[in-house]
Amino acid sequence: MSHDLLKGKKGIIFGALNDMSIAWKVAEKAVEEGATITLSNTPIAVRMGQVDELAKKLNAQVIPADATSVEDLQNVFSKSVEILGGPVDFVLHSIGMSPNVRKKRTYDDLDYNMLEKTLDISAISFHKMLQVAKKQDAIAEYGSVVALTYVAAQRTFFGYNDMADAKSLLESIARSFGYIYGREKNVRINTISQSPTPTTAGNGVKGMEHLMDFANKMSPLGNADAEECANYCVMMFSDFTRKVTMQNLYHDGGFSSMGMSLRAMNQYSKGFEEYTDENGHIIYG
Ligand SMILES: NC(=O)c1ccc[n+]([C@@H]2O[C@H](COP(=O)([O-])OP(=O)(O)OC[C@H]3O[C@@H](n4cnc5c(N)ncnc54)[C@H](O)[C@@H]3O)[C@@H](O)[C@H]2O)c1
Repeated sequence: MSHDLLKGKKGIIFGALNDMSIAWKVAEKAVEEGATITLSNTPIAVRMGQVDELAKKLNAQVIPADATSVEDLQNVFSKSVEILGGPVDFVLHSIGMSPNVRKKRTYDDLDYNMLEKTLDISAISFHKMLQVAKKQDAIAEYGSVVALTYVAAQRTFFGYNDMADAKSLLESIARSFGYIYGREKNVRINTISQSPTPTTAGNGVKGMEHLMDFANKMSPLGNADAEECANYCVMMFSDFTRKVTMQNLYHDGGFSSMGMSLRAMNQYSKGFEEYTDENGHIIYG
């Protein structure tokens, strides 16, 4: 059901790869709520993924761009303003990739060229986007920019690897740029820290299934799914959040404030039971 929350608004959605992508759901929701949008992803993702299918469905144009290329980003913003007929009201950065994770390099054996790529793709691209947009004056007054992040920026999670460093940097950029863009143009910049979600990027995290189950059991409201994340993004793009900026907003069912839950504790003690010998002695735990 639409509430017309984004009626008449224009936006750019980066990072819809397939129908599991969080950006895919955000694009659908934004249009459902009355927005017109452009979509962007890497040329290879546009060729290999299902972005065109989404574009057709939402009557949106796709502007391919490698988000690490300032030139490509300049093209996305200038074309979007042209296509949509004026400066945009919202932007979603839903981009993340770690070559170290892909190549199974552990955090104490990082390849530094790959680390640079991780940081460039997953965090510095956000700075590049904001700098390009500001120079082109491509975001309207009280526009809203959201990037997606993960609680591994604050706490250590097994297997999240150098993406944790990228997310810390991403959140820092939201604050640093948020000050300047807010002061000069009333543009707000926030990050949404999402529950583990089964997507192409999410499934690349080591032990994702167990992480999802653990997070779900730890969170009083359970994990937030991609569609719920899209609802939150739409709210952040809407006029109902005009004074929210420079925040890292947890959208995780309460996970980030928990220490231990009954459900997780019960599951943990079951784990012990699984490893008791015939005499009831714990042999592993
Ligand atoms: N899935 C999760 O568990 C989870 C949890 C918290 C935050 N996030 C974040 O949500 C965002 C979206 O990820 P997702 O889970 O929807 O997975 P996804 O794989 O669907 O999306 C990642 C996107 O990044 C794009 N991308 C990669 N390199 C790029 C580049 N150089 N230029 C432009 N685009 C590039 C990919 O093509 C893809 O569309 C990411 O920032 C991710 O870290 C995901």
